[in-house]
Amino acid sequence: MWSRRIKIRFVSVFIIIIMLLVSCQQRDYPADNEQLSHEEQIVIRFSHVVGENTPKGMAAIKFAELIKERSNGHVEIQVFPNGVLYKDGEELNALLRGDIQMIAPAISKITTLVPEWSVMDLPYAFKNADEVHTYVDSAVGQSLMNKLNVHNLLSVGVWDSGFKQLSNSIRPIEHIRDLEDLRMRIMPSDILAEQFSSIGAYPKRIDFNTVFNQLQKGNVDGQENTFTNITSKNLHSLQDYLTVSNHGYLGYLLLMNNEFWNSLPQNVQTLLIDTLEEVQEWEWQLAENLSSERLQEMEACDCITIHYLSAQEIQQWESAFDPVYDYYAGKYDSKYIKALPKNQSLH
Ligand code: LMR
Repeated sequence: MWSRRIKIRFVSVFIIIIMLLVSCQQRDYPADNEQLSHEEQIVIRFSHVVGENTPKGMAAIKFAELIKERSNGHVEIQVFPNGVLYKDGEELNALLRGDIQMIAPAISKITTLVPEWSVMDLPYAFKNADEVHTYVDSAVGQSLMNKLNVHNLLSVGVWDSGFKQLSNSIRPIEHIRDLEDLRMRIMPSDILAEQFSSIGAYPKRIDFNTVFNQLQKGNVDGQENTFTNITSKNLHSLQDYLTVSNHGYLGYLLLMNNEFWNSLPQNVQTLLIDTLEEVQEWEWQLAENLSSERLQEMEACDCITIHYLSAQEIQQWESAFDPVYDYYAGKYDSKYIKALPKNQSLH
């Protein structure tokens, strides 16, 4: 009798221990982060070059907050905005070296590593952000993504900034010929250089963080950027004319160092991917809303003369940029151009 009771106790204790072990294993993250040693925490340093009041800046903060909350602090995303850690032209190498784990550069800046990505820089390649998202998800989009893997990079999402507009301090730009002889700041991309040189302007590659200075010093006459980037750096205060041309998409690839990614536990990878998917949707909407808000602010500031290209002007501009497409087709696989939405409707 006595030995039966002991047996029952022993079995119950055994079952409780097993249940405790199983529940510990099932828990995704340690409940109390205070008990984690420094080494057990996963830190992801995320560097970018724009302000915290831009779609990218705000989405990076939201991503960091959600991950902290959902992992009980086990995973920490440290966001470094405004190029405080690494500037344009530095951050990609820092990621490749493994000094940081995540960046979100403009796609144009990836073209120095994978030039085929410059298909996204072709003028009037896309009418709206939805077209961009569909293209990136398509088979050719995937083949562009695969080219990143060769460089130990993994793309974990695409965020929008919006469509680029033109500003300058010399004259209103209504016709394409108005751009002739203007010195225009561009991001590092051969296609962007070609876009301006093909119509007689002078492209100048300049880091985002020094654009304000360069415009102020008169080293360039104008620049192209999205509404949120123009206002966040107060570029419109230095420029007299703005043309709402929507001539090119500016968006970001969220990149991680592949080797680092592979070192992460499966549950952390899942948490990051799920959260990024959610943040991406949120960011797309935010970029759209903020773009209209910033345009309204510029309309109201009475500080810059704004010209809106008409549908007819847009058509003329688009044909004027045909040589840029030929330039791309002469260098890279034409499948990337053929798959653009505007060429899809031709089939
Ligand atoms: C620029 O250099 O103009 C942009 O890429 C900045 C950014 O990251 O939006």
